[in-house]
Amino acid sequence: MSGERVPVTLITGAAGEIGQALLERLAEGRGEPVVTVDLRPLSVGGPGHPHREHFQGDILDPALWEKLLHRYRPTLIFHLAAILSTRAESVPVLAHRVNADGAARLLAIAADCATPDEPLRFVFPSSIAVYGLPSPESKEAAAPVSEDEHLDPATLYGAQKLYVERLGATIERLGAGLDFRAVRLPGLISSDTLPQGGTSDWAPELIHAAARGEPYSCFVNRGARLPFCAMPDAVEGILRLAFRGKASLTRTAYNLGGPSLSAAEIIARVARDFPDLEVRFRLDPARDRIVASWPAAVDDGAARRDFGFAPGHDEETLFSRYLIPGIRRRYDGS
Ligand code: NAD
Ligand code: SER
Repeated sequence: MSGERVPVTLITGAAGEIGQALLERLAEGRGEPVVTVDLRPLSVGGPGHPHREHFQGDILDPALWEKLLHRYRPTLIFHLAAILSTRAESVPVLAHRVNADGAARLLAIAADCATPDEPLRFVFPSSIAVYGLPSPESKEAAAPVSEDEHLDPATLYGAQKLYVERLGATIERLGAGLDFRAVRLPGLISSDTLPQGGTSDWAPELIHAAARGEPYSCFVNRGARLPFCAMPDAVEGILRLAFRGKASLTRTAYNLGGPSLSAAEIIARVARDFPDLEVRFRLDPARDRIVASWPAAVDDGAARRDFGFAPGHDEETLFSRYLIPGIRRRYDGS
């Protein structure tokens, strides 16, 4: 099977929010060909785009991997396919199969493709869901959480992310040539796409609703606070980690951070540009509890030091330079 297979970068979950942004960014580099996997169809391309082929199907389907690996030899994998936090809690068995078993299967495939001479880089987007603050008071009192603190997830999704981080690190230590790297992402906000099934979704949903002139029903309380990162900053961070020499890396999993914002602060900021914004609070206690267990801020000093993570947006420019202009363009072309 080995000789004629084409070396590729593989992206699973490529039709999702991060996948689409990552594919766009990879198109700028004219690098190795890219193959993608997702349950959903995907159309990318244009002249010079490195995207080679999309496999529409389930990461749990062995036939999909047989077909893909017959033609291609992954040298770098971004394993993005997952069921996000809110949905994962409502379909626990499926979430375990996709988020834990699916990732474990792909790690085994990757270890099989890797050799000590030709290590295969496996990049995994983990989450702030790996952290679990025991109470709202401890969340409020906590300093920005660093990677080795509060590793006590309150959700199945968080436990699945932590399991995959540890499984990847263990397989790497066993020495077959797997080079495993993970980022723990905060809530992401994109001006181009909307999330589905996550718990940090209130922030992007609210901003997009404001631009569409629609009222928004907010499922967390006014004081609910999380770190948020602009999608391009997160993708840049993921790519920097993926391409940094192994010798610079001092950890397996790194926090990527961003401004720490409450629902009330986001509403106040968005209302400056969209004064007709109308928000009603309809609390979803389960989702509110999940947010209460996640840190209000993370310490991303290790990512800054080891691979130069440098988000291009602060609390103000996240809105003024990225979200507001991008979202206006999206909905009214202005
Ligand atoms: P998304 O839901 O937009 O994308 C996930 C993609 O995975 C979807 O296109 C979906 O169709 C695909 N998928 C799900 N199950 C699959 C299966 N069995 N087989 C094949 N494809 C499948 O999510 P996203 O925001 O792009 O997130 C990507 C990754 O980043 C996920 O692992 C997520 O847990 C992680 N993450 C995201 C955020 C965030 O705020 N967006 C934060 C932390 C971590
Ligand atoms: N933003 C993600 C979610 O809400 C965190 O992993 O699911």
